[in-house]
Amino acid sequence: MSGNEEKPRILIIHGPNLNMLGQREATWYGCATLEEIDAEIKQTAEGCGMVAETFQSNYEGALVEKIHEAIKAYDAVIINPAAYTHTSVAIRDALLMLDVPIIEVHLSNIYRREPFRHKSLIADIVTARIAGFGKDGYMMAVEAAADMVKKKCQD
Ligand code: DQA
Repeated sequence: MSGNEEKPRILIIHGPNLNMLGQREATWYGCATLEEIDAEIKQTAEGCGMVAETFQSNYEGALVEKIHEAIKAYDAVIINPAAYTHTSVAIRDALLMLDVPIIEVHLSNIYRREPFRHKSLIADIVTARIAGFGKDGYMMAVEAAADMVKKKCQD
């Protein structure tokens, strides 16, 4: 047995085009690949006593179905819906079914960019948001989620 069975579980969801990190607009998104970021996320989660699962899709429906699977299955969810941040009522509606902390992450500071990126359709339903720290934002989110989960257990 790995001992992981007892640990809080966290799901990290990446939206469209994030599989292209490393080859995509490095000024905004940095040079690390998604594989490298996911490995660091898992290591950070382990350091916080949690187990992380990561998921990426370019399809809105697949992202929605992954959120459905997360109901009652994870202790926290971190999501970067990427372009769907600005358009997807379906992802918003799916997230509304979760009753665990949700952290919205963006690699770039979406408010320094084109006006259409300033609007997030999930901003008012998530627990917290991190934007503009590049890949470090995911690690901050994992640490924050671990704290939220611990505090909930102490309540
Ligand atoms: C992004 C910002 C979005 O506007 C964009 O469509 C992305 C990535 C970010 O992480 O900064 O694909 O979510």
